[in-house]
Amino acid sequence: MNNVLVVYYTQSGQLKEIVDKTTLALLQSQDIQISTYKIEMEEEFPFPWDFYSFFDAFPDSFLQNPKKIKPIPEDILNKKYDLILLYYQVWFLSPSIPINSFLKNEQAKQLLENSKVITISGTRNMWFLAQEKVKQLLKNNQAKLVGNIALVDHTTNLISALTIVNWMFSGVKKRMFNLLPLPGISQKTIEDSSRFGEIILSSIQNNNYTDLQQNLVDNGAVRVRPFLVSVDTKGNRMFRIWSKLIHPKQGEQRRKFLKFFYYYLIFAIWFLSPIVNLLYIVFYPFNYFKYKKQVKYYQGIE
Ligand SMILES: Cc1cc2nc3c(=O)[nH]c(=O)nc-3n(C[C@H](O)[C@H](O)[C@H](O)COP(=O)(O)O)c2cc1C
Repeated sequence: MNNVLVVYYTQSGQLKEIVDKTTLALLQSQDIQISTYKIEMEEEFPFPWDFYSFFDAFPDSFLQNPKKIKPIPEDILNKKYDLILLYYQVWFLSPSIPINSFLKNEQAKQLLENSKVITISGTRNMWFLAQEKVKQLLKNNQAKLVGNIALVDHTTNLISALTIVNWMFSGVKKRMFNLLPLPGISQKTIEDSSRFGEIILSSIQNNNYTDLQQNLVDNGAVRVRPFLVSVDTKGNRMFRIWSKLIHPKQGEQRRKFLKFFYYYLIFAIWFLSPIVNLLYIVFYPFNYFKYKKQVKYYQGIE
């Protein structure tokens, strides 16, 4: 019998849907016993979000400051796992505060130490540098990353930015203006993610993870668009400055800075990122080999 631990956090339920699809094959197997642990915060984040709470979460998200999580149940802690499936979402280009808090938690260290981990993210589309941060936290916990799946919203960057904000602030998945696509990861992408469970199952049964990532990539588990990597990298540079500036601020002053940050984000998304896109297209032939390397790197787990 193989013990598998599923660790996840979700606000809207999107990531739980992904858990359900990607573990279907494991649940149907006689050889596998799954334990599920949902991270719970001592102080929950609101969903739907209000304007202030959403932007107020930015400095701690980006600076990866952990918050208190509820103790991990004893029955989860007392088992030894052959594999851990870590499902996460990205907040402000970093692992979300609940995931970061889990990965920096002492009890979680006990679970992660010397364990094999597969990361499965469900994000808008900008997960590349957040995955680097997750990799580092896994390394700090002496866990071994053996696979990665990145599920995203495949609509264009600007449209998905509009629709996700509408979803996060209303709590309802609806077509904006009765025209734009539904926000978040498409139902088809979620449904089809069950095929990754079959690939993972085969690795568990053969106790061989050497080819797992390549098999996942061959089946479309990680699509890398160098343009988005470029926006993510530039965004991280700017967020570093903004987060350090806002983090120490309190009260009215903090509100004011968060508002400036909001204006900056609007400017960055609607003016800077199209320029980055244009430069990306113009200089594509000169950067062809660099981008090829980038795709290979972010599809990998090293
Ligand atoms: C505060 C906040 C910030 C977010 N920032 C990003 C981001 O930087 N990149 C990204 O791809 N998605 C981002 N998202 C979308 C989430 O990664 C995720 O897809 C969405 O919140 C649904 O996850 P859920 O399962 O927790 O409901 C953000 C969401 C929230 C609430």
